[in-house]
Amino acid sequence: MKDAAPVQPVAKYRKDYTTPSHNILDIDLVFKLHQTQTVVVATSTVLANDGATSLSLVGEHLELKAVCIDGVDWSDYELNDEGLVISNLPDQFDMSITTELNPSANTALEGLYLSDGAFCTQCEAEGFRRITYFLDRPDVLAKYTTTIEADKEGFPFLLSNGNKIAEGELENGRHWVKWQDPHPKPSYLFALVAGYFDQLVDSFTTRSGRNVALEIFVDKGNLNRAHHAMLSLKNSMKWDEERFDLEYDLDIYMIVAVDFFNMGAMENKGLNVFNSKYVLADQASATDKDYLGIEAVIGHEYFHNWTGNRVTCRDWFQLSLKEGLTVFRDQEFSSDLGSRPVNRINNVRIIRGPQFAEDASPMSHPIRPDKVIEMNNFYTLTVYEKGSEVIRMIHTLLGEESFQSGMKLYFERHDGTAATCDDFVSAMQDASGVDLSLFKRWYSQSGTPVVTVTDEYDAIRKTYTLNIRQYTAPTATQEDKLPLHIPFDIELYRQDGSVIPLVTDAKPVDSLLQITKESHSFVFEQVDEKPTPSLLREFTAPVKLEYDYEESQLVHLMKCSTNEVSRWDAGQTLLAQYIKHAVNEGVDIELSDDVINSFKALLTDEGLDKAFVAEALTLPPHSEVSGWFDTIDVDGISKALKQLKLAVAKGLESELLATYQSLSGGEYDISHQSIAKRALRNTCLGFLSCLEEHQSLAEQHFEASDNMTDTIGALSAANQSDLASREDLMNAFSGRWSHDGLVMDKWFMLQGSKPSSDVLSKVKSAMEHSAFSMQNPNRVRSVLGSFFSNPYGFHAIDGSGYEFAGEMLARLNTTNPQVASRLIDPMLKFARYDEQRKQLMRQQLEVLRDTPNLAKDLFEKVEAALK
Ligand code: TRP
Ligand code: ZN
Repeated sequence: MKDAAPVQPVAKYRKDYTTPSHNILDIDLVFKLHQTQTVVVATSTVLANDGATSLSLVGEHLELKAVCIDGVDWSDYELNDEGLVISNLPDQFDMSITTELNPSANTALEGLYLSDGAFCTQCEAEGFRRITYFLDRPDVLAKYTTTIEADKEGFPFLLSNGNKIAEGELENGRHWVKWQDPHPKPSYLFALVAGYFDQLVDSFTTRSGRNVALEIFVDKGNLNRAHHAMLSLKNSMKWDEERFDLEYDLDIYMIVAVDFFNMGAMENKGLNVFNSKYVLADQASATDKDYLGIEAVIGHEYFHNWTGNRVTCRDWFQLSLKEGLTVFRDQEFSSDLGSRPVNRINNVRIIRGPQFAEDASPMSHPIRPDKVIEMNNFYTLTVYEKGSEVIRMIHTLLGEESFQSGMKLYFERHDGTAATCDDFVSAMQDASGVDLSLFKRWYSQSGTPVVTVTDEYDAIRKTYTLNIRQYTAPTATQEDKLPLHIPFDIELYRQDGSVIPLVTDAKPVDSLLQITKESHSFVFEQVDEKPTPSLLREFTAPVKLEYDYEESQLVHLMKCSTNEVSRWDAGQTLLAQYIKHAVNEGVDIELSDDVINSFKALLTDEGLDKAFVAEALTLPPHSEVSGWFDTIDVDGISKALKQLKLAVAKGLESELLATYQSLSGGEYDISHQSIAKRALRNTCLGFLSCLEEHQSLAEQHFEASDNMTDTIGALSAANQSDLASREDLMNAFSGRWSHDGLVMDKWFMLQGSKPSSDVLSKVKSAMEHSAFSMQNPNRVRSVLGSFFSNPYGFHAIDGSGYEFAGEMLARLNTTNPQVASRLIDPMLKFARYDEQRKQLMRQQLEVLRDTPNLAKDLFEKVEAALK
């Protein structure tokens, strides 16, 4: 194949949507699998819309072997940069296209590729075009049959979507299997897997009595690590029936775990493909966080069966239709099964940290983007996590019952079709009678609104007034911003901790305020004393809150707020005040006794969920703190965070130690209580380890550990405090686990996040480790992803970190642009740093811009940043 001349990538716009020229009713695929020369015959029944006689199909990295129309060899076609244009076609026809592809050369992990010797596919968003020439767009829904032929010994399992309908043996040790999927689907949900696996089998009977075979495929020898995934799958199926009244719709549900995967997992109909990180777990090798991650991702992909597969997206600009909604559903699943406050706290952290940062970056976009060059660049925190917050706001405005009526109506209207975000909001509005016309602006407007609150108390009239203003700053691609519909939950507290009922015009009013204009004043009557307001409770909207809290008010809320998320939030706001002051004024942090005592009270309150206490004691990370400033003082923030940690450790020393000791022992299990105990104990260890007199704890903790959570607790304490024992512990760990890449990812991550100036050399030698591979996205993300957000390494003032990052990105640009494009994000924010760092980062971006064959993924981001 000849290399095409370099062409400037072109953008697509949401406003330019047009319906497809043809429909494809069904497609019959035959794969003759071969490592370097796989042959695919795709035979489709095609129907023209509005008398179209020419058909443009997209295809990439393919060798075209034959085109047949209605059984006749067709020569009336042309190949161009995008694919294949076939002309002089009748109104309805059978089209057969033969292509050849090279899976072993596919390092981008899109289309058909090899993962550790097994064939697998990844078609979302636009990977099917690497398998055959097709109308590879989500609004073309076809019924698929798939025949797979391969060598039997190396590939005993041949899997695809739907039900197995036939199989047979061939000569030369080959065999074949034929699958049929009865549900019409877009090409991005197609999947094929062929390999040699261990298989975990179970079953689930749906509410209506359908018996579903459940099968999880893992690498040989990993069977005993697949049980938590299976349990999570059954829990997901049951939960979706109970909470959303949704049942599974095929007789088999398969999950395959692969080591080479660009993302978390993929919801292919009936055949999910998972990053093995989200399947494999056991006591020795997985942390509690890993267990919870598996539950969430298994749930997420399962829930896509309705929100994504049965109702799919009309075009990729609508991605949040399935992703925001499905993230909302997986968050609710985790909250119903585990701790709701702890789940909420962690979700809020992601929004306030990385999502707000994305919204303030050159790649800022609405949850429904308007312009896309490379679709893979839009699987973002904004589309997923902010998208979920938008669904959550609808849920808050409607309440559970009306929200579920909205879901019912949405499925009644759109089942089996490709829909838009507008369709979803219309269903919610029509089913509930709640006016969402202004609310819809959340879909089109990017950026983070700032909600500023001031208050007045009138002691004579006994009235309390809240003045609330909203403002959204211009973002990279949107100059003018308009007011949004913001649900804003509040509560007012008396000095004695009791709640003041909300009364306006002599009538009780709801605690959920509706902010719809630029500014509002809410007057509450019968307020018998000056209250402490609790604002934006449970983070009812993804906004930045500004209210000039006094320290005593926050201390009060930490103690008496009626919900744990608000108590956590008050603590975080307190810490933020200290950090901002220290960074802005260049002064040292000294916590007041009141603050120390408030955290002490949380730590020693036996009635609280220990997992919550662990969250309440967790300090904001450098990356989140960076977002609070217009210009980021890298070293000032590092210094303040170190001092803060030390101040908390000193102030709470005896309580931390007592708690640490009281939580030792006990049988290992993964019940919420045990997870909570380990979380709090490891949090205590983290603080204690920065105090001279407790530096031996980490080593003891490491030696006594009988599970990965505690092992990593010890290692990260040693790593974060850069203890003398760090090297020994790291070596002991790699000595035990060097054969297991998934476990070594934890070690790679720790190397990349070492908080000291020698981190670059640690990273470079980690990349020489036998467990490292530049082709494996998990390995790359562990070591480079952590390094790229390391204030001591990536942001080293001599520019060595940026230079190294530039080299790595250039290498990944050619092998796996999707991974490169995720890693580059910290660099896009160069304009926010001091002059010296700004220049150094810009330089690297300019080098990248001039790289020959720069992938669309990086092109889009580098251009946006340098603009
Ligand atoms: N739809 C997948 C999910 O949300 C996301 C995904 C998996 C993906 N693999 C991908 C998106 C590759 C783009 C490219 O679970
Ligand atoms: Zn998803």
